[in-house]
Amino acid sequence: MIALEPSIKNRPEFINVRVRRQNAPGEKPYWELHKIKYEPEMNVISVLQRIAAQATNTDGKRVPPVAWDCGCLEEVCGSCTMVINGRVRQSCSALVDRLLADNPDEIVLEPMTKFPVVRDLVVDRQRLFRALERVKAWVPVDSYYNMGPGERILRDDQERNYPLSQCMSCGCCLEACPQYNKIEPKQKDGESNEAFEERKKAEFDAGFVGPHAISQAMLFNNHPTGKSLAGERLDALTGPGGIAACGNAQNCVAVCPKEIPLTTSIARAGRATTLHAIKKWFDK
Ligand code: SF4
Ligand code: SF4
Ligand code: FES
Repeated sequence: MIALEPSIKNRPEFINVRVRRQNAPGEKPYWELHKIKYEPEMNVISVLQRIAAQATNTDGKRVPPVAWDCGCLEEVCGSCTMVINGRVRQSCSALVDRLLADNPDEIVLEPMTKFPVVRDLVVDRQRLFRALERVKAWVPVDSYYNMGPGERILRDDQERNYPLSQCMSCGCCLEACPQYNKIEPKQKDGESNEAFEERKKAEFDAGFVGPHAISQAMLFNNHPTGKSLAGERLDALTGPGGIAACGNAQNCVAVCPKEIPLTTSIARAGRATTLHAIKKWFDK
């Protein structure tokens, strides 16, 4: 059901905003209350801009501006994801009038819980991008010489691939997935940056790769040039933290802002990995 926006006479003079803050990675989070003047047609990013300009909490105390991430402001870059009134979503497309229609008392802003907090509402999505590396989510071409036009993509394949190509690496599906748990490696005393990066990668690779990466593997396996790496992608999905880790709870597909058919991709990946494993067994 579409929530109705509040009528003009019901619009509040002020909006209460509760923000879960954290000063640095690994530090204790705390809640902070802000009150800003209501203006029509704001989104959550404009609320955060007003909070930054005020830099004063509801007790009148000067506080450092709340940190958040954003880029495109039109639900394309995927960087502004946060948990808003308990639901993971993009803050650029979260309209204040709609949020107030659901809960007129306050807007609650929290960082995603499945990624390490960098500061306040900014999280480190490195593991999400590492998963795309794991499944080689790209078309392998080099640009040293002109290879001419690429192979034609059939209409059916275009229609199947286009929805998957809209993934913006926002992390909503990972936040909602019960099989995706937070991994937050910490650099040990005396450990070099290089050694830490390697250990971090290994820890990420032991965890669930996530529905976004499974779906991207299916996208590139269905591309005329991309399919040259199909076997390697399926190997990655067959290993630890691959497709077998998915519990089929289907939370991912329910929260994806791009409405990507993630469970269809997961089902396709399940069939493809099984066939791949059988083929490898006969090829021995
Ligand atoms: S279907 Fe799989 S990937 Fe999607 S939320 Fe459930 S466990 Fe996670
Ligand atoms: S699949 Fe959807 S929810 Fe997941 S990262 Fe991509 S766009 Fe975001
Ligand atoms: S700012 Fe790019 S998706 Fe919200």
